[in-house]
Amino acid sequence: MSPRIFVTRAIPEASLARLAQALPGARIDGGSSDRSLSHAELLAGARGADALLCTLADRIDRALLETLTPPLRIVSTYAVGYENIDVVAARALGVRVAHTPGVLTEATAEIAVALLLACARRLAEGDRLLRGGGTVSWSPLAMRGQTIYGKTLGIVGAGRIGLRVARTMRRGFDCEILVHSRSPHPEWESELGARFVPLDDLLARADFVSLHCPSTPETRHLIDAAALARMKPTACLVNTSRGSVVDEAALVAALEAGRIAAAGLDVYEREPALAPGLARCENAVLLPHIGSATFEAREAMGRLAVDAIVAVLSGREPEHALA
Ligand code: DGY
Repeated sequence: MSPRIFVTRAIPEASLARLAQALPGARIDGGSSDRSLSHAELLAGARGADALLCTLADRIDRALLETLTPPLRIVSTYAVGYENIDVVAARALGVRVAHTPGVLTEATAEIAVALLLACARRLAEGDRLLRGGGTVSWSPLAMRGQTIYGKTLGIVGAGRIGLRVARTMRRGFDCEILVHSRSPHPEWESELGARFVPLDDLLARADFVSLHCPSTPETRHLIDAAALARMKPTACLVNTSRGSVVDEAALVAALEAGRIAAAGLDVYEREPALAPGLARCENAVLLPHIGSATFEAREAMGRLAVDAIVAVLSGREPEHALA
């Protein structure tokens, strides 16, 4: 019988074409609507599917996996982060899980650097000022921000994206790099002169703190009220990893009280909702989770997500398997 593949959300045309071409007899459902499915819609659409191509907005929990297996053989997520998938349950049920690492490193690092620059030099505030009817009036006191060159950048999480941000800021802005991670990464020291430090030291010494750790029970609210209190009052916090890493209510309180200078966020604790008060903070730069949103990265993510499905349905090992 020809396999059935359910795609939970619209993905680039080229990715769907690649899937259809690689599996000529397959029935491909979904993939046309650009909105997040409810859990009930996800269940209804995926019932009877051999493969599920999902996004980070779909909750693939144990109950869903048990309902869909068999015939479900693979869950391929169009993302590098996979905290929305119960990988342990999938493994126990014999369902393969694959993700898309490596191809969105540069895109996400660009957004982290952009947020850092926007926070330090108050770019969004300046834009809002003019759009709101304000005038271009040069003044010695107006819109002063933080110099970026030569300052200290603290990176939390020494993965691919953090390394790319560190390289950019070291080579482009002569920043001193501090890094906090669970395991040692000698290349950071040899290439960038980075120093591995405990989180508390990093928070106290860094002018800019950029978060690049995955969402796990251990990293939940890693940046809470106490962590924010350790940061310099002139510091900027950037988060392009996952919203759960920051206690967003505590961040709003810190921004309102001026306990840190600014925050640049691309991810939120309860996406798509923002914490109450966050949107009113003039010193927050808020992006709608667009870290990987370049044409190049999204095509490459689609290629990896599709290729994992093709591999499993053809009896081969998927390239970036989690289960
Ligand atoms: C991911 O792939 O996990 C990113 O957050 C998508 O932008």
